[in-house]
Amino acid sequence: SMYRERNRPQYHFTTRRGWINDPNGMIFYDGEYHLFYQHNPYEREWENMSWGHAVSKDMVHWQELPTALSPDSMGTMFSGSTVIDYENTAGFNKGNTPAMVAFFTVDNPEKQVQCMAYSLDKGRTWTKYGKNPLIDSKAKWNSKDTRDPRVFWYKPSKHWVMVLNERDGHSIYTSKNLKEWQFQSHLTGFWECPDLFELPVDGNKSKTKWVMYGASASYMIGSFDGKTFKPESGKHYYTTGSIYAAQTFTNMPETDPRRIQIGWGRVSHAGMPFNGMMLLPTELQLRTTKDGLRLTSRPVKETEQLFNSIGKWSSLTEAEANAKLKSLLSPDQFRIKTTIKLSHATSAGLSLFGQRILDYDMNSNLVNGVFYSPEDMTSMEITADIYVDRTTVEVFIDSGAYSYSLQRKPDARAKETMNFWGNRIEVKDLEIYRAESAWK
Ligand code: FRU
Repeated sequence: SMYRERNRPQYHFTTRRGWINDPNGMIFYDGEYHLFYQHNPYEREWENMSWGHAVSKDMVHWQELPTALSPDSMGTMFSGSTVIDYENTAGFNKGNTPAMVAFFTVDNPEKQVQCMAYSLDKGRTWTKYGKNPLIDSKAKWNSKDTRDPRVFWYKPSKHWVMVLNERDGHSIYTSKNLKEWQFQSHLTGFWECPDLFELPVDGNKSKTKWVMYGASASYMIGSFDGKTFKPESGKHYYTTGSIYAAQTFTNMPETDPRRIQIGWGRVSHAGMPFNGMMLLPTELQLRTTKDGLRLTSRPVKETEQLFNSIGKWSSLTEAEANAKLKSLLSPDQFRIKTTIKLSHATSAGLSLFGQRILDYDMNSNLVNGVFYSPEDMTSMEITADIYVDRTTVEVFIDSGAYSYSLQRKPDARAKETMNFWGNRIEVKDLEIYRAESAWK
């Protein structure tokens, strides 16, 4: 079958052929999750930017569809978002079929302008709006960096909101009809691929905060009145590594209001007919921690179907745990959940294929070089959920309080290079899972 090349991730989305970068237009509609993405259908390199398209019923098994938006005489198709225009504010609807409307940046050597297109067949075919562009703000900002429109419906005031990267931050525009847009505010300190969404605090639906997101997984927590985002926190990072330009699904059903993100994995795929990948879909939540309110991220429950537990132990010595790794793991793709307890030294971790996948330095409060201290600072323990696929590793610390992703070295599959390390550590918990392929 297809999608089985040696260095193709088996449970992360990649395209059959060509280049991908940012996820675009992520939306749930009529039982389908839509993933559009920056795509060069012809080569493995960034060029000819188009919107590729894939659909899924569970965010795990994806079906690639024909290219949704291709370059035209105005330029190439850069990143953006989609909405469903239930109330026919733009007048594109046909009978009972509401239009799916896409907002994207058209890039040409001179400038970047914001445009739209609509679809009446669930994103399969698109008609570009005849009066594009909607926004041309190069002169105002004296900058070519005006891009990545993120549009959503703001219920309390019944208007559309567009968050747009302009020069040195994220601007907010509003509209009643998706065609005319009014500038409202600008927040500096962010770069590219904005997202803005409301989340319950600690799962309590009557207490919410808004999150402003920028492409490097930076975020601020604050309030939003439909026109202006007011930060109430500093700038934080919930995840680091190969992730970039993540976006979240909009139009989730009322019975399932999860905020689910997919990020671009900036991972190279040597010798493959494709390049770039998407990271696992993760649920974002706001959790009160010892350091204040923070965004957390962990794989959605739908990903559980990919993993079969093949062994679970507690209170192992380092040597015992290493023997389990070596006897059980098929090194292509798998998952490990573990808690390591330190006692006779200040650092410990796990190495796979000669890479330090987990490196906890309790004395300096570092996990893989990034400042992080566990919730229970006196426990001397670090808990990690580690997803290994053929070219990438994703690590979720303390139920997603911090996470990171890294490139796995291609062809590094030797079992001898898998081991826990640290002076007389206890591997308090260890569970090993086999990983299925998501490609049928
Ligand atoms: C982010 C980005 C976006 C832009 C797109 C072009 O990775 O630079 O700002 O729209 O990629 O492919």
